[in-house]
Amino acid sequence: MNLKTRIILIVCSFVVSGTVIISACKKSDVHRRRATPMNFVVPDGFPSPAFNFSQNPVTEEGFALGRKLFHDNRLSLGIDVTCSSCHQQHAAYTTFDHDLGHGTNHQHTRRNVPVIFNMAWHTEFEWDGRNKSLKDQTLACLTAPEKMAGEISAINEKIKSDTSYTRLFSDAFGDANITSDRIADALTQFVVMLVSNNSKYDKVKKGEAEFNSSEAAGYELFKTKCAGCHAEPLFTDLSFRNNGLVSTPFHVDYGRMEVTGDPADSLKFKVPTLRNVMLTGYYVHDGRFIAVGQLLDHYSEGITPIPTLDPSLQNGIPLTLLEKFYLEEFLFTLSDSTLISDPRFE
Ligand code: HEC
Ligand code: HEC
Repeated sequence: MNLKTRIILIVCSFVVSGTVIISACKKSDVHRRRATPMNFVVPDGFPSPAFNFSQNPVTEEGFALGRKLFHDNRLSLGIDVTCSSCHQQHAAYTTFDHDLGHGTNHQHTRRNVPVIFNMAWHTEFEWDGRNKSLKDQTLACLTAPEKMAGEISAINEKIKSDTSYTRLFSDAFGDANITSDRIADALTQFVVMLVSNNSKYDKVKKGEAEFNSSEAAGYELFKTKCAGCHAEPLFTDLSFRNNGLVSTPFHVDYGRMEVTGDPADSLKFKVPTLRNVMLTGYYVHDGRFIAVGQLLDHYSEGITPIPTLDPSLQNGIPLTLLEKFYLEEFLFTLSDSTLISDPRFE
């Protein structure tokens, strides 16, 4: 074989094997690997996240796209609401001072808007756990008629002439095609990075701060009376429980039973995290309480035995006025000013 033939053969074999490799993966996968990986840091003391990062690896480019989508009102039918209009950063990602969320074309959501930080540890989403992945959840909020009523082909029409999207979709996924899958992946990448772990409580745990005496007393009470459900470090054990709130005629909601069909699940709701709870009023699934103190009064004096009431609450949680004060002082230490002001998420 002369040199020229050898060179041609070598070049050909590169071209052939390259083509095989490229056609073996989807074009977008190849591109995603070229995008810059973004590190998800598991805070000290937190369990391993439930989110499967290998299915939807977070990249700088995907996150940047997710961030723009999260704040874009063109995703909603009436071009009037964004993810961030209900999940507001300054309110730790719920709607500030509202019992229910405000959806597109002046609608109201059925339930109180939950916070959406530390989602990497959740496996079931919404108050009743009806959605089984964060990606499904982002699409559920995007398309729910009373939330954004977004429809992908319409969204596509509205944003395709925006050249910053052409660039962002190409950077994140390899080409400028706008699909529901890509929108959901990018939004998921943004949401999963919202982690709250820099409250005073966290600093105390790391030995960087100290509780004052009221906070310390509140923490002791919390550990014996509340942590059975609002378990550290997420301040939820992610289970569905009935904490003794009776349905009102104005708001019929059977909670978990609507998903499982099991009467034993009637009036059970996902235990909400208490991280940032002092920033997130109104409270509980229907937003019936405006202040944390009302919850304490409920646990202490308001619980009536209803069939699916959590066994640990059969006798309520009797609390003196002073104990209620200490508990509130402790709950204030769960506010995380980093989360609500982090410029990466604005
Ligand atoms: C109109 C207000 C509204 C808008 C806009 C909205 N959401 Fe929601 N979101 C809610 C409500 C209300 C729930 C809880 C619904 C339920 O339990 O029935 C929720 C639930 C969630 C959850 C699950 C939280 C948990 O603890 O299980 C995530 C994640 C989420 N939304 C992300 C998003 C994303 C991403 C967008 C934008 C595509 C968005 N939301 C737009 C109101 C809204
Ligand atoms: C048996 C489990 C259980 C125990 C014990 C418990 N909680 Fe709860 N808590 C829940 C559930 C479930 C909800 C949500 C109920 C709903 O939405 O209808 C909730 C809601 C809350 C909320 C509202 C949070 C929000 O974002 O809406 C606060 C505040 C709260 N609990 C504080 C406490 C405190 C303080 C204690 C201890 C004195 C305590 N809880 C004990 C299960 C429990």
